[in-house]
Amino acid sequence: MGLTWAGVVLAAGKGVRMRSRLPKTLHQVCGIPMLQHVSMAMRAAGVERLVAVASPALAESPPFISAAGDDALIAVQEDQRGTADAVLSARVAAGDAASIVVGAGDMPLIRVQTIQRMMSEHLESNAAMTVLTARDVPLKGMGRVRRNGSGEPVAIIEEAEADEETRQIDEVNTSWYCFDATWLWNALPKVRASRSGELYLTDLLALASSQGRSAAVRVESPEEALGINDRVQLSRAEQAMQDRIRRHWMCEGVTIRDPATTYIDAGVSIGQDSVILPGTHLRGSTTVGEDCEIGPGSVLADCRVGDGARVISSYIEGAIVGAGVSVGPFSRLRAGTEVAEGAYIGNFAEIKNSRVGPGVHVGHFSYVGDADLGRNVNIGAGTVTCNFDGRDKHRTVIGEGALIGSDTMLVAPVEVGRDARTGAGSVVNRDVPAGETVAGVPARSIRKRIAGEGEKDQ
Ligand code: UD1
Ligand code: MG
Repeated sequence: MGLTWAGVVLAAGKGVRMRSRLPKTLHQVCGIPMLQHVSMAMRAAGVERLVAVASPALAESPPFISAAGDDALIAVQEDQRGTADAVLSARVAAGDAASIVVGAGDMPLIRVQTIQRMMSEHLESNAAMTVLTARDVPLKGMGRVRRNGSGEPVAIIEEAEADEETRQIDEVNTSWYCFDATWLWNALPKVRASRSGELYLTDLLALASSQGRSAAVRVESPEEALGINDRVQLSRAEQAMQDRIRRHWMCEGVTIRDPATTYIDAGVSIGQDSVILPGTHLRGSTTVGEDCEIGPGSVLADCRVGDGARVISSYIEGAIVGAGVSVGPFSRLRAGTEVAEGAYIGNFAEIKNSRVGPGVHVGHFSYVGDADLGRNVNIGAGTVTCNFDGRDKHRTVIGEGALIGSDTMLVAPVEVGRDARTGAGSVVNRDVPAGETVAGVPARSIRKRIAGEGEKDQ
């Protein structure tokens, strides 16, 4: 049995109005390339095969391929001769699908339910071409949808070709369509160049209408029709999608104290009864558990935060923060850091590529890099893991229950044993056995804990 629906995303355009070295559809909206938003929406709407139309250069570009998605087929449009030519380039890749949904890669705000509604109305009406239209949107640059006396859509007129009267029409083409595939592949080669020299996909509506097989479906909310051609529109799309994302999480039971200063990327998730305070940015693939308090003024990028954690005015990237952990104010956790449940990271701490055990305290201005901190370790103020010898990075290992005195320099590679202690101001450049206390520069043993005898001064 053949395929029912194939989706074609148009993304080969030059995007000159962006004035960018980055291809237009790879510009991000809420942390995800706009092409990816469109591809995901098409897939969620139920297309069985997805084709992204790319320029020859883009077709080879890994970020483009990854934004289109692993399962997408890439069709190459050799010369950007217009949207009709772009769809024709997808013909082989679209295979034997009975129906085709076409969407522009520069319209990230389109909703899944809108695409689905267009698809089902298209099938019900038996139209050859169904166009998705919008009203109450800025008209500039948009193709106008002309209807006849009975309200049937009869033509799309591009702005460049429109006379004054046509320009007054306030219903526009969103650049999303459904087609009967057989009709489409037959009709496309008949499109003639417009005055601008471009082959307009939009010309097909007049043909479908002349055969009594045109239909139109309107978007529910005008923002869905926002196509991005320049950076002003990019910023509008960002705002509109931010608004949508914040509303979504509020409806899911998250308190957002000040939505206007809270930024949440599309790939983020947040648990129930968490509170997001003003000036907070949740980026990338960050997940926040339930009952957390994040902010004010925190930035979390690609991290995982467990239930009941607090992150006050801190910057966390690529780290895992366990349940009940408290971070900040003014600390930074960097990539590869895992903080176990119940640990306390106070102010002005930087932690990189380290495992921090349960119940650990790093209360005040410390650098912990490439380290393993066992359960209940206490790191005194001003402690530094000196992990870099000018050429290589080395690890510091601190055993369970150890107490690191204020201003200790741990010259890695070095290991401090379980329940050991370092005196304030020590420079530890040799391993410290379990239970021993060292002090001085360089630090030397001053006390030993011997089993059965308690502590003994050296
Ligand atoms: C298009 C529509 C217009 C509609 C508007 C909505 C046409 C002729 N016009 O105009 O009616 O109101 O979108 O935003 O379709 N592309 C290719 N290959 C090409 C040319 C374009 O893949 O040769 C892609 C672009 O990357 C883009 C999409 O098609 O994703 C639309 O092209 P664009 O140049 O943005 O068309 P608009 O001028 O916006
Ligand atoms: Mg456009």
